[in-house]
Amino acid sequence: MNTVIYYYTGTGNSLWTARAFAEKLGDTELVPMHRMNHGSHSSKADMVGLVFPVHIWGVPRLVRNFLQSMGKRPGVYYFAVAVNGGQVSRTLIQLKELMAKDGLTLSAGFDIKFPSNYIPWGGPGPVEVQRKLFNAATEKIKVAALYISNRKSGLIEKGPLWQRVLFTGLYKMTYNLVKTLDNSFHIDGTCTSCGICERACPVKNITLEAGRPLWHGSCEQCLACIQWCPEECIQYGKKTKNYERYHHPEVKVEDILRELISKRDFRWQGARVNDIVFHKVE
Ligand SMILES: Cc1cc2nc3c(=O)[nH]c(=O)nc-3n(C[C@H](O)[C@H](O)[C@H](O)COP(=O)(O)O)c2cc1C
Ligand code: SF4
Ligand code: SF4
Repeated sequence: MNTVIYYYTGTGNSLWTARAFAEKLGDTELVPMHRMNHGSHSSKADMVGLVFPVHIWGVPRLVRNFLQSMGKRPGVYYFAVAVNGGQVSRTLIQLKELMAKDGLTLSAGFDIKFPSNYIPWGGPGPVEVQRKLFNAATEKIKVAALYISNRKSGLIEKGPLWQRVLFTGLYKMTYNLVKTLDNSFHIDGTCTSCGICERACPVKNITLEAGRPLWHGSCEQCLACIQWCPEECIQYGKKTKNYERYHHPEVKVEDILRELISKRDFRWQGARVNDIVFHKVE
């Protein structure tokens, strides 16, 4: 039984989660979603996983675009993991509905909580709290992977009713505005023109002009640029200069930078995983 997991990540929580599932499920290929929007990835895998962060209480646009380009294989076992900062709301129900329109069945959907990377509202929280979240995620992944391995179906996790009532409307209201929210990014401090922000952006929304990043109004709000800048000189609005940056401690910037697709085999917590990554073109 082999598996392909399509993942999307800004700050590594979803990539770490995808790797952890791969390790538990065995014989798993990890494929980043964002480039697949511009090509196709044909997979004959028995099981297909979608691992992505919750954005604005729902399925991020990049994931929705990916779904349109993903090869449709009714009858295959599909599962999803909505990685989030504590408010999954009705993201997985929404995903199930979107997939149903394409004749696909989402058999299982898991809510896994991590430190929030939404820096306009604050930092990731105390290290001790972060550690508890990582431990809880590890435990939950064990249980969820067993559910998936046994091909069980029917569990689609959701947030409490108040979240689903309050936030579904907000998701709809903001969905078309997300692209232009990059107009709040600016540089405050010493930019070394290292290019990491440009290369970390999943949708090529940043170019360096005269050595400084310029945002082009096609933003997905993944926040990779602000969170991975080694100089911490990217700000969003007025408050972020006071907030700590975040990325998952076991994910490195090299795992996020993306230019060219190539494939590598590597070992992740003891298991062999095929990971399709991007390498720098020198
Ligand atoms: C634009 C944006 C919106 C977010 N909205 C939510 C949300 O509605 N609910 C939630 O629990 N977390 C939300 N988050 C937090 C992320 O889902 C969470 O930090 C996730 O672990 C990030 O995963 P990543 O590191 O793979 O990008 C949001 C983050 C961003 C950047
Ligand atoms: S990542 Fe930071 S330092 Fe590097 S080019 Fe971008 S803004 Fe400048
Ligand atoms: S501009 Fe920044 S926040 Fe927007 S998609 Fe690119 S990396 Fe993500």
